[in-house]
Amino acid sequence: MSAAPEVPGTVAPAPAAAQRGKAPPRLRGEWPLVGHLQELRRRPLELFARVRRQGLRNQSLRDSFMRGHAEVIAAETQRMMAKLGDEGAVDLLDFFSELTLYTSSACLVGKGFREELTPEYFRVFYELEKGTDAIAYVNPYLPLPAFRQRDRARRRLVELLSGVFARRASAPREKRELFDVLLSLRQPDGSARFSVDQITGMFISMMFAGHHTTSGTAAWTLIELLRHPDAGARVVAELDALYADGREVSYQALREIPQLESAIKEALRLHPPLILLMRKVMSDFHYKEWTVPAGKLVAVSPAISNRMPECFPDPDRYDLDRYAEGREEDARLFAWIPFGAGRHRCVGAAFAMMQLKAIFSTLLRDYAFELAQPAESYRNDHSKMVVQLAQPCRARYRRRAAAASP
Ligand code: HEM
Repeated sequence: MSAAPEVPGTVAPAPAAAQRGKAPPRLRGEWPLVGHLQELRRRPLELFARVRRQGLRNQSLRDSFMRGHAEVIAAETQRMMAKLGDEGAVDLLDFFSELTLYTSSACLVGKGFREELTPEYFRVFYELEKGTDAIAYVNPYLPLPAFRQRDRARRRLVELLSGVFARRASAPREKRELFDVLLSLRQPDGSARFSVDQITGMFISMMFAGHHTTSGTAAWTLIELLRHPDAGARVVAELDALYADGREVSYQALREIPQLESAIKEALRLHPPLILLMRKVMSDFHYKEWTVPAGKLVAVSPAISNRMPECFPDPDRYDLDRYAEGREEDARLFAWIPFGAGRHRCVGAAFAMMQLKAIFSTLLRDYAFELAQPAESYRNDHSKMVVQLAQPCRARYRRRAAAASP
């Protein structure tokens, strides 16, 4: 059996594993992954026909869902903006965390549940996220204040959701949402399939993947645009031109907004919210002269990969043109990895990009922002596994006069 083709940044399987002739991983649409190179070599036409079939099926579903989500996100941003008034100052972490808690719960759980959210949910989530200390890898039950706070927050979330479920039980809703479906599932003996505690766990894991990652990226996108006024002006001019005909944000958020997309990608490159992606090695593998034995943990860091000078020239420089035609530095396989890479690449990446585009399309059309602290004082807090902006991280805002420049 011939060796798998070498692709920069990938790992050749151990010879013993390769001899067993394992089937390549199955495709779920999109472009062939590295694991499909063998299939591409042996049965190219079949592979392309399958990709196209799956791609089309997924695409139509994805577009109609995404369109609905974009509308919800634009509306939630408007609701947050209604509280801002004509001018003032906000803490960017608080502002974007609150906004993305509303958008994530409305899109992932349902609009009905979103209306039940109170500021307490926001506090509870903050405490849960603060409990993500690296020491949890050693023992997540150590008697540390952060872990006690985390467990208190989780218990409180179970209480809050129990209240929501009790209200739903007494007044069943016409339009079923995720929670209604989960609650209605039964065991063969008629008892509930999932307890409130279990559903709370599902809710937390669903929200965790997309909440702090998106809110942190939104905050850094804005901070970097304010630190680089030329880039800020380019993005605002692009949005003004795009929306001059009064088109809907939800419609445009699914399409290209090149300057804004570059600003989001550059924020993700310089400030990836997940800085350590880990895997447990299941069978020995060899890479160049090294052998990594089964049982070891291996990790890659987007924070390092995203700044490799051989892939991103002058890597510490904020440069929107990296992503323009001809350079496309984000297209380098396994280099630009704020969403990870390979089989476990973020499944929410398209949703996250759309969400960020919808938020900024709405926000920057009505408001101009400026930094409220020295530019270099904005930084990440790395004390937890969930990297988050350190507070204070304030910005001032004022409502833009109609058709005025930023
Ligand atoms: C800017 C926002 C986001 C960033 C930077 C981000 C980043 C990442 C990264 C780096 C991974 C790979 C983890 C690994 O390899 O161990 C990942 C996985 C994942 N993400 Fe995201 N994410 C974002 C938003 C979202 C959203 C909005 C959702 C859900 C709607 C989501 C759901 C997931 C899930 C379910 C996985 C696990 C995929 C798997 O293991 O196959 N993410 N994300």
